[in-house]
Amino acid sequence: MPQPQPAVFAEGTPSHWFLHYRLVDGADLDAVRGAVSAVRAEAAGTTPTDAVNLAVGFGPDLLARLAPDDVPEGFHPFTAVGSEPGPVAVATQEDLFFWVHGNRPDRNFDLAHTARRALDGRATLARETVGWVWHDNRDLTGFIDGTANPPVEEARELAVVADGPGAGGSFVITQRYVHDLDAFDALDTEAQEAVIGRSRADSVELEDKPADAHISRVEIEDDDGEEIEIYRRSVPYGTSEEHGLYFLAFSDGLGAFDAMLARMYGASGDGLHDRLMDFTHPVSGAYYFAPGVEVLNRIAPTPDRED
Ligand code: HEM
Repeated sequence: MPQPQPAVFAEGTPSHWFLHYRLVDGADLDAVRGAVSAVRAEAAGTTPTDAVNLAVGFGPDLLARLAPDDVPEGFHPFTAVGSEPGPVAVATQEDLFFWVHGNRPDRNFDLAHTARRALDGRATLARETVGWVWHDNRDLTGFIDGTANPPVEEARELAVVADGPGAGGSFVITQRYVHDLDAFDALDTEAQEAVIGRSRADSVELEDKPADAHISRVEIEDDDGEEIEIYRRSVPYGTSEEHGLYFLAFSDGLGAFDAMLARMYGASGDGLHDRLMDFTHPVSGAYYFAPGVEVLNRIAPTPDRED
């Protein structure tokens, strides 16, 4: 199978940086390719200790222009889910996404800065978020995030397009959630656990979890009764004033994300929405495709680092 971008599956990194760029009208595509190459070269570093993980994702329009033969089936822009007065997943689709992560915030900054300079005049920075691991991989609600995530070897199977156009690449969802921790922290532990569907201390699934608990809404099965899984890589972000979860996940199709969001945002036809959405709301939402290394090298080549 074609190789996925290694940064998608590099785990255990504490420092994260997320960048979303929107192409300016009439941007020269060769210049955009050159800018992405420059960012990739910066990520490779000049020594192994300077290297930083970089995953590059493209929005549907840009991917179709840069690599028309490598657009995977069913790749569509993110559109809003849900409607007022219920929770709404807003859509803020952009063209280019960089996920930078590693052990060194200084190197993440170098890379973000390189991207800013390289894309100057070609794309505008639409959103930038700095994320970090909090305590023992907990979301700021205090609950462990990632318990039911597939182990990395399994994730490489389920979150990578196996064949056809886009083989070796992954579909990406990004949403920046702003939490209302005053409201959530005002609940007692039992009520908080009913919102999530797991115990707070050690993330054990509740035996009688409510139908609107978060994990009740996102545990879904395909027509053969197999659980549909995604690979989540979310981290907390923010300041003492505004903070929450930077939700990031990968899959081999958009169907899983679409179905989970419909159930979370009251758009699946059963009259329920995810209770967690009463305590947090997304202020961004986009889909990207992170092509495999071979396609990425064709779009924006970068010389191999010589160690
Ligand atoms: C603020 C936003 C969110 C928070 C705080 C959050 C938090 C959590 C927590 C605490 C768990 C239980 C532990 C675990 O298995 O990781 C969980 C599970 C899960 N979440 Fe979320 N989540 C959020 C958004 C989303 C979204 C947008 C999706 C899908 C589009 C999603 C999909 C899942 C899935 C698939 C599971 C595993 C369910 C299972 O099989 O047990 N989450 N989440």
